[in-house]
Amino acid sequence: MKLAQLLFTQGFGTRRECAGLIAAELVTIDGAICDNPNRELVPEGLQFSVRGEPWSYRAQALLVMNKPVGYECSQKPKHHPSVYSLLPAPLRNRGVQAIGRLDEDTSGVLLFTDDGTLIHRLTSPKHHVPKVYEVSCKHPVDARQVDQLLGGVLLHDENETVRAAACEATGTSTLRLTLVEGKYHQVKRMIAAVGNRVSSLHRSAFGEVRVEGLTPGGWRWLPGDPLDLPTAAISGMPLGT
Ligand code: URA
Repeated sequence: MKLAQLLFTQGFGTRRECAGLIAAELVTIDGAICDNPNRELVPEGLQFSVRGEPWSYRAQALLVMNKPVGYECSQKPKHHPSVYSLLPAPLRNRGVQAIGRLDEDTSGVLLFTDDGTLIHRLTSPKHHVPKVYEVSCKHPVDARQVDQLLGGVLLHDENETVRAAACEATGTSTLRLTLVEGKYHQVKRMIAAVGNRVSSLHRSAFGEVRVEGLTPGGWRWLPGDPLDLPTAAISGMPLGT
């Protein structure tokens, strides 16, 4: 692939802008400036830098962010900044999208990709990808509430019950809840259905992907072919590093 085309696929701007970066000697490969937009390169595994910042070529982008509270998952946020403002421009330019959403006041694991098929597969209820939530409640949690969450609760405006795939009290007013669906405000509505109230919410895992080592707002690439993720997530293979 030609260098200018490669930069274009990685989100560094229009073809013209990519050619401009190369002409301005802002692109290096193996530590040396490359000012030839037509240089032929093998993209897989290629390391390069743009304006001094190192990048690796990725045919498809897949990353995990430790979403901070106070950010909306929308591209057009209404009341708070967007999680997309925490990503570098090339990732926004290449059209990465959040895989599902977290509320503005929820923190934790949020995946992004520019692979539409993957978004579909990971958000489809068919795939049952487990999502783990650390829930702090306003009132103490008792065994009856845990049993109800495991047995199934009826949410307001729904006619079928939803149940937690796993649920355990982790303190007097804290719970760890595993869900395999992703209904709107599901955790908050389930906790309300058992007579309690969520005071803070953190998603600690999406499949096997976690955010340990990432500060709030930080992100990292996930390894491997993104299309392996659903299988890997379900079979418990570690994905994050
Ligand atoms: N359930 C909620 O209620 N909120 C979230 O952000 C995620 C799951």
